[in-house]
Amino acid sequence: MKVLFVASECAPFVKTGGLADVIGAVPKALAALGVDIRVILPVYPALARVAKTGKIVTKFDELFGGEARLIAAKSEGLNLLLLDAPHLYDRPGNIYLDDSGQDWPDNHLRFGALCFVAAKVATEGIKRWKPAVVHAHDWQAGLTPLLIRQAGAKTCPRSVITIHNIAFQGLFHWTVKDTFSIPDELFTHEGAEFWGHLGFLKAGLSFSDKITTVSPTYARELLTAEFGMGLEGVLQARRGDFSGIVNGIDLRAWNPSTDQALAKNYTSRSLGNKEQNRVALRTRFGLGSDASGPVFCVVSRLTEQKGLDLLLEALPVLVGRGAHLALLGSGEKHLEQGFLDAAQQYPGQVGVIIGYDEELSHLMQGGSDAILVPSRFEPCGLTQLYGLRYGTLPVVARTGGLADTVTDADDAAIKSKRATGILFTPVTSAALRDAIHRTCDLFDQPKVWRSLMRNAMRYPVGWDQSAPAYLELYETIATK
Ligand code: ADP
Ligand code: GLC
Repeated sequence: MKVLFVASECAPFVKTGGLADVIGAVPKALAALGVDIRVILPVYPALARVAKTGKIVTKFDELFGGEARLIAAKSEGLNLLLLDAPHLYDRPGNIYLDDSGQDWPDNHLRFGALCFVAAKVATEGIKRWKPAVVHAHDWQAGLTPLLIRQAGAKTCPRSVITIHNIAFQGLFHWTVKDTFSIPDELFTHEGAEFWGHLGFLKAGLSFSDKITTVSPTYARELLTAEFGMGLEGVLQARRGDFSGIVNGIDLRAWNPSTDQALAKNYTSRSLGNKEQNRVALRTRFGLGSDASGPVFCVVSRLTEQKGLDLLLEALPVLVGRGAHLALLGSGEKHLEQGFLDAAQQYPGQVGVIIGYDEELSHLMQGGSDAILVPSRFEPCGLTQLYGLRYGTLPVVARTGGLADTVTDADDAAIKSKRATGILFTPVTSAALRDAIHRTCDLFDQPKVWRSLMRNAMRYPVGWDQSAPAYLELYETIATK
């Protein structure tokens, strides 16, 4: 089975969030199942070095305003197809945003070009390689299924689109349809049109053969007006082709027994070693050594989605229980400022680093007792999965993938050794405060806490279940 992944980010090369982790990890898991898989990505500055090691497979004299080349390269165990179009991608900083934090004004061209080239590879093949299935991820890849459909039914490969986050839909002025020669019959309410705009994600949802999202609970939530962000009707109409497949993590990149970013490696049999990581974490975040409660951490984008304003409101309870907080994140200015102010207000108890630091995020998983994820919605969430693997108990809102991957430490689950964390609902600061109290109560019972840590570390967070689920899905459409 030949499969082409289309995505805008991929770890370890270029990452703004969990999408990159998933795109960096699933192809390897699928390759281990015998899938011949390639990933097409834009050549941002972060990929320039890898692109230099590859071979040019196609040249474009003119691709939406400039010359471009498609380069085949191998790196980090991935077979990459790199779209080198300097006029679109050779820009410093965030891959989606300009210096002022606004979307690049030509994002429709930048990601439309990616879809255009992906569809070309899909329908024409390159160097005798032609995929049976094209798997598009999020809005940036959303035009691909439409462009494949447009190319004609017979020779078309099948397509799947995965929704990693429906909050980002890629909506553009309707005239953009002409840039991509989208005919009027595809630009309809049942097609790519969304309230007068061209919707890249909507196009993907309308024209792909299958739709997935990254957890079963989020799949159910997306069918409702509360979570569907206007696309619930489209998903309801395609209910029979829509399912949730939970994310896994890269077990090699995230392994407490080998992780180079830790001060001391450990396993579930040497949990005492976590202490040295805690000491290193305290030093990095200026926390005192006097915590009588757990050390909580947060590693997150600071946005409305992540519910961290609720944590700001609940902080007096956290520090009141003798717990500490280490937060690493960046995003909305008012949240950044809120946490910086909290660090001033509770010196030695609340430590805050504003920024993005991959290595530090590993140390935080290694050195904390619990990780807080109070999201208002969470398609899957990966930091709670890292937490499980590192014996850092997730304290999470009961929504989306958080609900699917964490088992609440109620009495029955503790007894049957299934409990791995704390879940709370509704997503309010009052419920979060209760969850913090419950976490501290459990932490005060060292034997129970240790057994929760062991349960968490035993919980399967790799791709063992989900990679075969994707393959099965590909097989149902490819053989039709
Ligand atoms: P989302 O994709 O919605 O941001 P996920 O939980 O799926 O949420 O993935 C977030 C990923 O980004 C995780 O790998 C997390 O460790 C990482 N991350 C988020 N913020 C930071 C940060 N400030 N520094 C380092 N890593 C971060
Ligand atoms: C999105 C979601 C997150 C998910 C990630 C990878 O960014 O917000 O919940 O884990 O994609 O699928």
